[in-house]
Amino acid sequence: MADAAAAGPRSCSSNRPRSRRRVPSLRTMPTAQPLVHVVGARPNFVKAAPVMHALAERGVPQRLVHTGQHYDAAMSDVFFDDLELPRPDVSLGVGSGSHAVQTAAIMVALEQALTPERPPLVIVYGDVNSTIAAALVCAKLGIPTAHVEAGLRSFDRSMPEEINRVVTDRLADLLFVTSPEGVDNLAREGIDAGRVHLVGNPMIDTLLRHLSRFDPGPVRDRLGAPGRYAVATIHRPANVDEPHAARRIVAALEEAVARIPVVLPLHPRGRATLEEAGLAELTGRGLLVVDPLGYLDFLSLVRGSSAVITDSGGIQEETTILGIPCLTLRPNTERPITITHGTNRLVEPEALGAALDGALAGAQAPPPEGPPLWDGHAGERISQSIESWLAVRAGPGGTSGS
Ligand code: UD1
Repeated sequence: MADAAAAGPRSCSSNRPRSRRRVPSLRTMPTAQPLVHVVGARPNFVKAAPVMHALAERGVPQRLVHTGQHYDAAMSDVFFDDLELPRPDVSLGVGSGSHAVQTAAIMVALEQALTPERPPLVIVYGDVNSTIAAALVCAKLGIPTAHVEAGLRSFDRSMPEEINRVVTDRLADLLFVTSPEGVDNLAREGIDAGRVHLVGNPMIDTLLRHLSRFDPGPVRDRLGAPGRYAVATIHRPANVDEPHAARRIVAALEEAVARIPVVLPLHPRGRATLEEAGLAELTGRGLLVVDPLGYLDFLSLVRGSSAVITDSGGIQEETTILGIPCLTLRPNTERPITITHGTNRLVEPEALGAALDGALAGAQAPPPEGPPLWDGHAGERISQSIESWLAVRAGPGGTSGS
């Protein structure tokens, strides 16, 4: 069996930013007014951290707004601790709801928060409801937005995230793209190329920054996981909202545990339907269901695994860099570069057993070249672009937004 965990992280083509400019003092900054980052859900925190760290290094004033889309300690607080993120300056506390209820609640609260402040730029991340809500509010208030992780497309409008991506990109003034096909997608949609910047992947910045802290031993021992195992995560509405879909997933996991023990940190969204579909019956047969894990614990667990089974977006990217085979239980991906340049394969639930056999036999080794610019410096490129953009808007000797 190929030991993916022993393979270690992959090297990627490095395209470091040109030598970092001297960090300007606040008096000479192109903006005296803080930029605002809007985050709300787990993957946002992972993407915002390197951008915030890089802007802080440049002395750019910034504030953090947390919408409260994710609110459990295990879904939110632990990420702030793990990623050394500052506590939010503003917490909107919107919580869960239907798409309309949640998106509208974020919009109402965010409009109130931003109106008196009118920041020179609001930065939004990824494709969650907090992202589209913030982009809409800013567009109506006339506040420019930057979208980090622009241009991804699954071309599947049944995914709420696809709607969020398309609309957010349409509205954004600055579009920061993680991989070349994103640039092509935006060009096809007629988005002005002058707004589009290929910068690499901030989620991979975070992964590389914390790589030395990903130690599988302690988390494996704490959870009672065996030495050899696969990790599974399942939370997409298409896989867990309907009983029929949940039964397909449980049947697929049954095939998986027949081959290798599986650790499943279970997102609250799918718990009820998956349990009704018979998940508990697999617990004595090699399935270990655990609560959602924080960033460091989860990536440590993944790093020690032989394979990952998922329907997440970000995990397709993380496994690509860690060199762990990833079997994605979806009919499509907005991240095709993780297939062409990584360890990812799309798999129907009914084909999971055979795909896992192949992955465990080492048939899913990563190609030699990783995705371009996934080198740990996306945050720096983004902050550099933002600073230039603010300087242009401010004009000679001016400060924007003041
Ligand atoms: C959201 C994103 C999805 C992302 C995922 C990461 C949207 C449309 N979807 O999906 O793209 O991959 O986050 O995790 O924005 N819940 C809790 N505690 C929490 C948060 C949620 O128990 O802290 C439960 C609630 O029952 C809630 C359900 O999870 O109704 C779904 O949460 P929600 O934020 O609406 O969507 P996710 O499925 O988490």
